[in-house]
Amino acid sequence: TRTPVTVTVTGAAGQIGYALLFRIASGHLLGADVPVRLRLLEIPQAVKAAEGTAMELDDCAFPLLSGIDIFDDAVRAFEGTNVALLVGARPRTKGMERGDLLEANGGIFKPQGEAINAGAADDVKVLVVGNPANTNALIAQQHAPDVPAERFTAMTRLDHNRALAQLSKKAGASVADIRRMTIWGNHSATQYPDLFHAEIAGRNAAETVNDQGWLENEFIPTVAKRGAAIIEARGASSAASAASAAIDHVHTWVNGTADGDWTSMAVVSDGSYGVPEGLISSFPVTTADGEWEIVQGLEIDDFSRARIDASVAELSEEREAVRKLGLI
Ligand code: NAI
Repeated sequence: TRTPVTVTVTGAAGQIGYALLFRIASGHLLGADVPVRLRLLEIPQAVKAAEGTAMELDDCAFPLLSGIDIFDDAVRAFEGTNVALLVGARPRTKGMERGDLLEANGGIFKPQGEAINAGAADDVKVLVVGNPANTNALIAQQHAPDVPAERFTAMTRLDHNRALAQLSKKAGASVADIRRMTIWGNHSATQYPDLFHAEIAGRNAAETVNDQGWLENEFIPTVAKRGAAIIEARGASSAASAASAAIDHVHTWVNGTADGDWTSMAVVSDGSYGVPEGLISSFPVTTADGEWEIVQGLEIDDFSRARIDASVAELSEEREAVRKLGLI
C-alpha cells in the first residue's frame, strides 16, 4: 500500500470545507488509489464544528482516509503537508475598504506562509481559494522563501469551469468537447475568459459561436459575475462548485493535463504575455509530473490585450497595496 499523502485544509468548518472534505477523503483529489491523511485548520471558535465534520468523515468509513487531525494553530496544521488548501479567509463585510480587507487577510496568509515554510513537506503544493485569492497567495508565497515560488497557486478553475458551462450551453456542445479554455488575470470581476483560443470539437470556439455581441455582452459578464448571481439566487456564496473546482485544480496539477488541452491556474508570472514578473495571475497552463508550465506563443489580439491588461493592472494595484501595508 502507498504511504498516505498529507492534505491540510484551512477553513475546514466553512461551507466550502464541508463540500470539499468528503471528496478529498473519497479519493477525488489525488486519485482513487491514494490514501490521504487530513489536517484541518480552523479558528478556535470553529474547532468544535470541524470536529463535527470529522465525526461525519469517520462515519463515511472511507477506505482511503487514514486519519484526521484538527488544529487551531497554523504551525502544527502544516507539519508534513504535501497539499495545502487555503480556503479560510476573512470575507469583506459592510463598510470594509479594500485596504482593510487586504490587511485582515494579510494577518491570515502571512503566518500561514511562514508555517508552510517551516514545516511543510519538500514537495508541498499550495492552492489558495480564500479571497482575494491571487493576492493572498502572493502574501503566503512571500513569507515562504524556502519553498519554490511556483508551488503557490490561486484558484481560477471555478471561473474556467463556469466558462465551459456557458459555452457548452450556447454552442449546444458537451463540455467534454471543449478544450483550451483560458481565464486570464485576477479571480475578480476583471478576469478575462478567452474564447479566441478555445476549441469546440477541434474548431475555434469564437468562430464557431460567431456572435461577438454574445461574447462581449453576455458570456464575459456572466462568467465574471457568476459569483454574485449565485449569492442572489441561493442566498449563500458558491460552495459545492468552488469545492469541485479546487478538486479539479489539484487533480490536474498532480495528474497532468490531457494531450492538446490546457487548464487555467493563477501562477507566478515569469513575464509571459506582458504580465509583470512575480504577480500571481491566471494563465493557460499545461501540467505534467506535478509541475505546471505557462502555454507559450498564443497570439493576443487587441480585444484580448485590453482585457488582460485591465485585470493584470488590478493585480499590480493589489500588490502595491499590500507592499504599502508592509504585508510583503
Ligand atoms: P465560510 O465563511 O463558510 O468559511 C470560511 C471558514 O474559514 C470559516 O469556518 C472560518 O472560521 C475559517 N477561517 C477564518 N479564518 C481562518 C484562519 N485564520 N485559519 C483557518 N480558518 C479560518 O466561507 P466559504 O464559503 O467556505 O468560502 C471560503 C473562501 O473562499 C472565501 O474567502 C470565499 O470568498 C472564497 N471563494 C473563492 C472562490 C474562488 O473561485 N477562488 C470561489 C468561492 C469562494
